[in-house]
Amino acid sequence: MSFTAQPSPPARPNRCQLFGPGSRPAIFEKMAASAADVINLDLEDAVAPLDKPKARANIVEAINDIDWGAKTLSVRINGLDTGYWYRDVVEVLENCGERIDLIMIPKAGNAKDIYAVDAVVSAIEAAKGRQKKIGFEVIIETSAGLAYVEEIAASSPRMQAMSLGAADYAASMGMATTGIGGTQANYYMLEDVRPDSNDDGADRAIHWSDPWHMPTVAIVAACRTHGLLPVDGPFGDFSDDDGFRAQARRAATLGMVGKWAIHPKQVALANEVFTPSDEMVAQARRILDAMEKAQAEGAGAVTLDGKLIDIASIRQAKVIVGQSELFAGS
Ligand code: COA
Ligand code: MG
Repeated sequence: MSFTAQPSPPARPNRCQLFGPGSRPAIFEKMAASAADVINLDLEDAVAPLDKPKARANIVEAINDIDWGAKTLSVRINGLDTGYWYRDVVEVLENCGERIDLIMIPKAGNAKDIYAVDAVVSAIEAAKGRQKKIGFEVIIETSAGLAYVEEIAASSPRMQAMSLGAADYAASMGMATTGIGGTQANYYMLEDVRPDSNDDGADRAIHWSDPWHMPTVAIVAACRTHGLLPVDGPFGDFSDDDGFRAQARRAATLGMVGKWAIHPKQVALANEVFTPSDEMVAQARRILDAMEKAQAEGAGAVTLDGKLIDIASIRQAKVIVGQSELFAGS
């Protein structure tokens, strides 16, 4: 381990972030009643330009009047390249009570973007005597966001989480895709030509690769280095449960803690993937027990079920046990 300790992320569940447009107040109560850990009321791309003022008013009312229980409550503002974002921050924070937890900043491109929002939020907090310090979460969804992901993660003590926004990321990178996240049909490896292959090679196996792998790992590394929660963003095809699960499982395997839901039916899927199963927790506890015994006997590495476990296995097992303890009360 480096002499610089790795900071812990906020100790709150973030398995699923359920989104809803600020212009559709009829679904707010349903969002509050959902099993999502985080609620994102949107002022950005799910709200048409002419609806922005009304959506801000709807969101203020919803923050003040709806019982959001123990959920983390976040408002997604518009990007810093628009004329909307400052009014989003001013109107929401000047008029809503202390129940709001986070502001989500989309298309974060560098640390200065976060600094600009921080300055406005800090001024409103001071002017209005707000007691609770608003946290930030950002979306990494542009080439600049990826290039400067580490400085964005380090940009402000308000920072709590980072999400990968697959659709805008793909557009910004000039990727030849249209679907929002998941498998991309043209991103594949083809089995090498075998000597026994048909002349036309039509029987060669296809292996689909993961076009989101690199930004996912970059976000996880930046978040883990600076004590933030790394989150996988939207999966657009809400009719494809297995596709959602596959995407979420890859993200979980790489260290992300949760995923967005852009339709209520995706909430249970995200909770299922990002809550360690009873079997995983039991196995992690077996590893901890075996290592405790080994250490009492002065051994650093031992065999469990025919496999090596050592002191690093304690750290891996503690991640899983720690997650299950965090979710136990939720
Ligand atoms: N949160 C909670 N409930 C929701 C919901 C949401 N985001 N979206 C829909 N519902 C409710 C509907 O009101 C309906 O409730 P009912 O059974 O009581 O009538 C039920 O869930 C089924 O909805 P359905 O008809 O399948 O969907 P829809 O056509 O009403 O809406 C979307 C589909 C995708 C337009 C809608 O889910 C949505 O706006 N999602 C969020 C989009 C967003 O915020 N994007 C920004 C981030 S990428
Ligand atoms: Mg986006």
